[in-house]
Order: sequence, then structure tokens, then C-alpha cells
Amino acid sequence: TWKLGDFAEETIARIRQQVGDDRVICGLSGGVDSAVVAAILAEAIGEQLSCILVDNGLLRLDEERAVVEEFSDHFKTDLHVVKAEDRFLDVLDGVTDPQEKRRRIGHTFIECFASEAQKIEGAKYLAQGTLYPDVIESGAAPDGPADTIKLHHNVGGLPEELGFDLIEPLRDLFKDEVRRLGLQLGLPEEIVWRHPFPGPGLAVRCLGEVTKGRLDTLRAADAIVVGEIKAAGLYRATSQSFAVLLPIQSVGVMGDSRTYEDTIAVRSVNTDDFMTADWSHLPYELLARISTRIINEVQGVNRVVYDISSKPPATIEWE
Ligand code: XMP
Repeated sequence: TWKLGDFAEETIARIRQQVGDDRVICGLSGGVDSAVVAAILAEAIGEQLSCILVDNGLLRLDEERAVVEEFSDHFKTDLHVVKAEDRFLDVLDGVTDPQEKRRRIGHTFIECFASEAQKIEGAKYLAQGTLYPDVIESGAAPDGPADTIKLHHNVGGLPEELGFDLIEPLRDLFKDEVRRLGLQLGLPEEIVWRHPFPGPGLAVRCLGEVTKGRLDTLRAADAIVVGEIKAAGLYRATSQSFAVLLPIQSVGVMGDSRTYEDTIAVRSVNTDDFMTADWSHLPYELLARISTRIINEVQGVNRVVYDISSKPPATIEWE
């Protein structure tokens, strides 16, 4: 059997003391952070935990199914899946401004989450997977930058509106520490080493208008990027690898005819803490395979570019 580290032991003890006999709600996103929060809560309070997964239609290919399966395999707690794709697509209709996208997704997420949470009897606490970098970048840390660089919908807002007390067991941790904690808690490597995924999901990787069709294009391209990086044995060596759908068409040629189609940008970065990052120096053969497969297999895409910007000044996400 594995032995929990001091941080896990102390956190579990603190959660038990704080929660007592009350019920805790935890949002699952498919990401490492929320999985680790759910795992530590399951360890601490077991059946007093209820989890909510909002399917916002902005998840990666097959992600909802994978989260539900992995979750049911590893925890025996109460899981609620909220099907909300249409609702999110409605509020995003015609919106292209990045901050406005984030704002609307944040609000809609809160509404969906709240209405499900209100059905769960006796819930007093809300657990969130806020990490230290989220706290700093949102300007919430006392010594953090005054400006909000990006609106992180997972920091603030939710607990006040819902009237829950907040539990943020990962608030002092960086990503690599969260992963170590996840392994200590017995989570499978597949969850623990999954690349992080932003709360607003594919909406911030679908530049310009967010429509079902454009999201499907992005999902297909993204699955190829991640699949090829895994096949090359480089998934663990890169920190985050994904596709971005650009809001521009360009001219191409297919057979005898001219095409005017979408562009996919491939983004892959290496970083220790996600506050600074370098672009991954991927082998040319791998980039070639990714490009050929996307152009051949994803309808409506005739051009693939590789993002060679480091953070700063670029951010990891494009919006
Ligand atoms: P940036 O793009 O700011 O991203 O360099 C840093 C890390 O944060 C993730 N990210 C988010 N995570 N909610 C999240 O939970 C968000 O709104 C959000 N925005 C960016 C991003 O994927 C990267 O890992």
C-alpha cells in the first residue's frame, strides 16, 4: 500500500475537522486538479461527497465519457452529469471577444452548477481545484499583480453566489505538486499526467465564433495532435499540447481547384509551473505527421502552423 505524504495527511485531517458531518460538493472538469480535489475529499469524507460534471459542449473528444468512466472506476461517490451543450452554445452565439467568452462561460457555468447543486440535499461546502498560479494570475494573492491577466472563472464568484463555504485544498500548490499528490492518493497515471485543460474549454482555443461545427473541427484536429504526440512517446515530455482553430481562411489548392479554408495552429509547450513556458522543440517528422493527418483527415482545414512563441510574452492559451 502507498503511504500518504505529510501534506496529504494534514489536508485530510483538516478537511475532516472542517466538514464534520456535512456534505461537500465538488465540480469535476476532466482536469488533473479537480480529480485530485475529488480524490482527497473521497479519502477524507467518503460518502459525504457529491460531484458535479457540467458538460458544456466545450470538452475535448470523448472527454465526458472518459471522465465518467474513470470516475466511476476509482471513486464510489455520488456523480451528477449536467448536459448543457446547447445552453453554452446559445450564450456564446456571435461572441468573439476573449474576455466576453470567458465571462459568459463563467456565468453559465455558475447557473448550471448552482441549479444542480441546489438539488443536492444538505450540502454546505464547495470544493475547488484552485492552484497557486490561479491565485496569483487572478490578482487574488495579496502580493500578486493588480491586473487580471485572464478571467479565471474557477477563482471567486461561485461560493458567494451559492452560499457555500469554500474548500480549496490545492491553493498553495503548483501543478507538479498536485500531480505528486494525485499519485500518492492512488489516482491512475492517465489522470495524473493528463495535460491541463482550461475551465472555459475549447472556447478559448476556437478563436472567433464558437459554433458546434467549428468546435467539431477543433476537436478532430486536437485529437490528432495529442494522439501523435502520445504515439511519439512525447506526451509526458511536453507539458501541454493542443490544437487552436484560427479565425482566418487562407487559399490552398486541391487537385485542380482552389480552396479557401481554415487554419489550425498547433501549440505545444514545456514548463515547470505554467507561469513561464517555452515552446516544445518537437521533431520535424512529428510535426510533418501531425500536419499531413490534420489536412487529410479534418474537413475544412487546408493549412497547419506551429506556434513558436514562449511565455512571456505570449500566454499558453491563445485567448
Ligand atoms: P495561460 O494561457 O495564461 O495559461 O498561459 C496558463 C495555464 O492555465 C490554464 N488556463 C486556465 N485554467 N481556467 C483554468 O482552470 C481558466 O480559465 C484558464 N485559462 C488558462 C492554461 O491551460 C495553462 O495551463
